[in-house]
Amino acid sequence: MQNTTNAEEVLVLEDGQTPPTGTTIPPRQPKWNDTFKYIANPDQFCRQNLQEYGPIFNTRVFGRTTIFVGSAKAIQMAFNGDLKYTEIALPATTMDMFGEYSLFQRPDLHRQRKNALAPGLTGRVLDGYTPHINDVIVRGIQDWATPSRLSLYPAVEKICFDILTPLLLGINLDDSDSATFKELPVTSKAELKALYKTYFDGFYGLSKWKSRFTKYGRGLLARAKLIEFMRAVVHRRRTEGKINPSADFLSMMLASQQENPDGVFSDELIENQCLLQLWASHYEISGLVSSLMYQLAQYPQVIQQLREEQATVLGENSNVNMFSPENLKQMVFLEATIKETLRILPPSSTASRQLTKSVVLDGVLYKKGCVLIAEPRLAHIIQEHFQQPEVFAPERFLPERGEGKMYEFIPFGGGVHACLGAQMAMVVTKVFASHVLQAFDWEATDEPKFVQFPLKKLKDDYQIKIIRRV
Ligand code: HEM
Repeated sequence: MQNTTNAEEVLVLEDGQTPPTGTTIPPRQPKWNDTFKYIANPDQFCRQNLQEYGPIFNTRVFGRTTIFVGSAKAIQMAFNGDLKYTEIALPATTMDMFGEYSLFQRPDLHRQRKNALAPGLTGRVLDGYTPHINDVIVRGIQDWATPSRLSLYPAVEKICFDILTPLLLGINLDDSDSATFKELPVTSKAELKALYKTYFDGFYGLSKWKSRFTKYGRGLLARAKLIEFMRAVVHRRRTEGKINPSADFLSMMLASQQENPDGVFSDELIENQCLLQLWASHYEISGLVSSLMYQLAQYPQVIQQLREEQATVLGENSNVNMFSPENLKQMVFLEATIKETLRILPPSSTASRQLTKSVVLDGVLYKKGCVLIAEPRLAHIIQEHFQQPEVFAPERFLPERGEGKMYEFIPFGGGVHACLGAQMAMVVTKVFASHVLQAFDWEATDEPKFVQFPLKKLKDDYQIKIIRRV
């Protein structure tokens, strides 16, 4: 069976054009309680409907006719329709939270903006971030008291915030240095973090009322304050003199703007992009690292294999404080293990697109106006994509088995909107895992409980037993 779609296989219908004879529509009647069932337990929602209807089915989640797609061909169709037959499908409230200058507001400028942003998160610039990433993790895990029961997600999240905020917002977070927040409208790391949380929560408020009494309203207020903060950070950075474009993501944008004042980067885009980037990365990476540690606690033999790989990669230097980009690239089994965690516990639930035209693929009509959700929770458990999908088997991602092909493995979405930070997420998770493998033994305690929505992550009260290794 052919698993990928040729562009010409997708028949795009003009308005009023009749679909070919014999065309069907996706199975399943949308139900009034679909949103509730999906949000309450997305894994179960996907699994049950997959069993009953197959990998493509109709729903009514979030108040609109929404077609879930899980087969590689349909996912490819969904990911590659930008400017032809799809647009990014985000509710108006979400667009408000992103702001006028985000990556999403102007589909016509999306590619140009994204290309300009990528150098700040990939390649040599990303390699240059690894000393900072190592340093923050080494200091952060030193604070983990042992032997103890560690609340896993909050412990990881605290460190991830300290890694990402300096890299993305271009600020040092050291509260004990009086220069850190001098002349800025936010006065401490705790205040900044709390504002960020309010901003993040605002995306998922149920009420659209702009008021202090709603999550959405408080989110917008937090957003305004964060933009004011970023404006002051940018002003301070400019007065400090020469900007090193590879120091952090903010510097990359400021340097590019200095070089080409009429280019992509306006001040508004820079401020907004810093917010978007932290929004898109912080909770996702925290979710991934903590889920990885939770998964490994179930599989001591995988921990053993990972330690053997570390010993081979590092040789004599098996007790290091700094994993270099080269070391990280050699850790292929660790990479496979992280991918397997992303397959089984994808932090991000969905990549969604709205159809601006009707299309027909494989005799199925996807009607204009419907939303398509490419769901990793479907794609990652389909037997055609993964052998024995219910088994945790990192080796499936090694070249010999070669599972995890494009459009079958989609934790980072795909197509023109594919995640911009996938490489960065992998680097942070690899460094984190390497230090933790070196420093600790750990065991799972109770049955895990997960927050399911908007991101899948362990609940804050889930603990592991942790002991420092001699
Ligand atoms: C485990 C970590 C992460 C996961 C699971 C994740 C997942 C995703 C997913 C599913 C999408 C939607 C893709 C689509 O619609 O096709 C996305 C988009 C995006 N992500 Fe990530 N992400 C992660 C980390 C990051 C990081 C570290 C950054 C940047 C620092 C980042 C920046 C973005 C941006 C800017 C977009 C929008 C891209 C566009 O629309 O063109 N993400 N991510």
